[in-house]
Amino acid sequence: MQQVKLGIIGGGTVGSGVFEALARNGSLLSSRVGANIKVHRVAVRDLHKKRATAIPKNLLTTDWREVVCDPEVNLVAELIGGTTVAREVVLTSLKLGKPVVTANKALLSAHGEELFAAAKKYGTNLYYEASVAGGIPIIKSLREGFVGNRITALYGIVNGTCNYILTRMKLEGADFGAVLADAQKLGYAETPPDLDIDGHDAAHKTGILASLAHGFWVNPKKVYVEGIRHISALDIKYAGELGYTIKLLGTVKKLEGSCRVQASVYPTLVPNAHVLASVNGVFNAVFVQGDIVGDALFYGRGAGKDATASSVLSDIGDAMLDLKTGIKNRLPAFVPHECAGAVAPISEVVSQYFVRLNVVDKPGVLARIATIFGQSNIGISSVIQPEGHEGESVPLIFMLHYATNGVAAKALAKISKLPTVKGKPVMIRVESFEQ
Ligand code: NAP
Ligand code: HSE
Repeated sequence: MQQVKLGIIGGGTVGSGVFEALARNGSLLSSRVGANIKVHRVAVRDLHKKRATAIPKNLLTTDWREVVCDPEVNLVAELIGGTTVAREVVLTSLKLGKPVVTANKALLSAHGEELFAAAKKYGTNLYYEASVAGGIPIIKSLREGFVGNRITALYGIVNGTCNYILTRMKLEGADFGAVLADAQKLGYAETPPDLDIDGHDAAHKTGILASLAHGFWVNPKKVYVEGIRHISALDIKYAGELGYTIKLLGTVKKLEGSCRVQASVYPTLVPNAHVLASVNGVFNAVFVQGDIVGDALFYGRGAGKDATASSVLSDIGDAMLDLKTGIKNRLPAFVPHECAGAVAPISEVVSQYFVRLNVVDKPGVLARIATIFGQSNIGISSVIQPEGHEGESVPLIFMLHYATNGVAAKALAKISKLPTVKGKPVMIRVESFEQ
């Protein structure tokens, strides 16, 4: 039987989860694949740290090179995160011809092209199922399951931390900071958690999904990003009154009649009747629309030790099979499609909008704001103006019809300059999921 000796770099939430999962299901994996898997060495930063899963002392080292360069190690799992040491770990392993499994979407976003080119050059593979949507096998599904489809649209709740925060804010009226601290304790959040709440982690994942769906490398800098810091209890309340739930959504949509795509991450009003509105807590979901399959939905835990370990084990299984059969370069970063695509600037993307203003309650205010929307050719589909006392500041909420983001932003900039409009207007896009 082929012997696969795994070197794990990182023994934190994911690394210790993988160690534990292999202790539990390693022999099952070995018998299914027809090759034997054994953890040979594990690199960590601190040998004396107390870990959720104890890793035997004789396997541990603080020197990742000792693991990667050990002649007995023939498969490496990079599970430390970040883009500096992790890049070195992956490149060094690939140069030695050793396949690498990674859960590191930040690394793939920043250096994916270089790393996939290195895998090709040195005749080996780079596996990354755990980099997007935790335990959901979305990478394999897009690359293999939907190989016969054109993906017309893809919407993903792909950040467990943000979904956990938004869910608890909505259902319990919980405070943003307190829920974030819980997400950190549960091992969901990145270090630092700004990566999650400012939308960058979701953008890294959305970029990877866009690359797979559309066959060109989506530079993460081209993915438009807004996080959830500015979402308040008021937005959640009024969205609810209008029949919507706010979700941080990664959107990848083919623009009609061109090879250009929308690739973006922003808080989005999702109609309560849509399945994505009921994806709660740390759960992730990816809703895919293909030209042959129609609608398909993937749902599961998006972060945490066990869910992520499940995807890492899937990659380890693939790597074991490839080592057994001698398959090299089985996994290109993406399969180039029929036309070379590009990401469209957000100003050209068309959306519907929820706008919340804080205005002085006096006659003529609503009319002045409506005039600016009208002059910009933006239709108003509904307005909520809670009862207030004349002269006081009150919220004023608009639901707006389709307009490009460029036109909507200009109209809002004009509105925010009106003396009766106080503070910064809040604009949240609305998704109807229509094809
Ligand atoms: P983590 O809990 O912070 O663990 C990081 C591990 O790397 C720690 O064990 C740390 O050692 C070790 N480490 C850091 N620098 C090192 C170095 N120079 N040499 C050796 N070891 C080093 O992080 P995590 O949550 O497991 O995340 C790991 C990766 O998985 C990241 O890329 C993350 O984005 C990705 N990911 C995480 C999740 C999740 O739910 N947490 C889900 C999907 C993907 P010490 O323990 O000694 O400090
Ligand atoms: N911090 C990430 C999240 C981990 O919350 O989704 C999973 O990739």
